[in-house]
Amino acid sequence: MNKNKTTAQNKKIAVLPGDGIGPEIVREAIKVLNVVEKVFGHKFDIETYPVGGCAYDLCGESLPKETLSACRSADAVLLGAVGGPKWDGLPGEKRPERALLGLRSELWLFANLRPAKIWPSLLDSSPLKKEIISDGIDILVVRELTGGIYFGAHSRSLDKKIARDEMAYSEFEVERIAKVAFECARSRNKKVTSVDKANVLESSRLWREVVERVSKEYPEVELNHMYVDNAAMQLVRNPGLFDVLLTENMFGDILSDEASQITGSIGMLPSASLRHDGFGMYEPIHGSAPDISGKNIANPLATILSVAMMLRSTFLLSDEANAIEEAVSNVLLAGLRTADLTSPDAAPIGTSQMGDAVAKAILKMVK
Ligand code: IPM
Ligand code: MG
Repeated sequence: MNKNKTTAQNKKIAVLPGDGIGPEIVREAIKVLNVVEKVFGHKFDIETYPVGGCAYDLCGESLPKETLSACRSADAVLLGAVGGPKWDGLPGEKRPERALLGLRSELWLFANLRPAKIWPSLLDSSPLKKEIISDGIDILVVRELTGGIYFGAHSRSLDKKIARDEMAYSEFEVERIAKVAFECARSRNKKVTSVDKANVLESSRLWREVVERVSKEYPEVELNHMYVDNAAMQLVRNPGLFDVLLTENMFGDILSDEASQITGSIGMLPSASLRHDGFGMYEPIHGSAPDISGKNIANPLATILSVAMMLRSTFLLSDEANAIEEAVSNVLLAGLRTADLTSPDAAPIGTSQMGDAVAKAILKMVK
């Protein structure tokens, strides 16, 4: 590992731990970030801000103005998770999840990258049969994040008996996310599967037309289209089919959970939500898991791997990102497992022990 190649950087990171297991997993990610800072000689200015249910409890808003402006003036954002049963009764606009949607739209984070790969040492954790995953799984879900049904008009009839959620897409929105998918595919296995429901939805027919047009600019990338129901089936039947999976907002939400589970555990999957200039918010794809919060059993690796994505995508520090990923690979190879990854007879380690192990593995690599 070359720890002297990149020049020292001074970066401001807004950290939003959120609810449930959020604070526990974020603590471990910061532990790892601090080690990277020391080993590579950078300066990360890390400030923590409330978001989600805990922010609502503090000030009556799940996305306080101070939190949003801190994110705006930071170089990147690291988020844990939001939500929990305590806030389920709140009206739509006050719900913790709304904070997440607010962050995505206010920060213009239209491109959500969710890599789902199977770590060789976790092959046994996949619920799929060995022969189905023998060639490995390495999928990148590229999900449109600020449009579609999540951000269309939501309404109820006067008598409250009819509800509507509008799914709308503009050419512009489809084009910019399609370009991200093709760019990503270019540096991977050069294959884009665009997911839609063009046999039923008008927005999907527009989606397909625009993706088809964008693909002409990337002749080296193979494009195929797949209906979302078929994509959901193929993911468990033959996940090796996929390289980059390009989706609208809700299809990507659903398919990325499925893609994560076939790799062994949703506790392993990081994500990046990016703006056109490379600014990004990084978070594990899993939720706040209130049932296991405060028990030191959650898997912090998805958040730690989200930090690696931050270093690589927003700060362009690829040696540092590689070091984290290699450290994660080493601890898994050494047999360390949190409860979500263990077989019933193996003893799991805790959240903080996993964070310690990754931090130690990075230090060991530079010795
Ligand atoms: C995700 C989550 C969010 C989403 C929720 C919490 C609003 O499921 O990031 O995948 O639906 O986008
Ligand atoms: Mg989701």
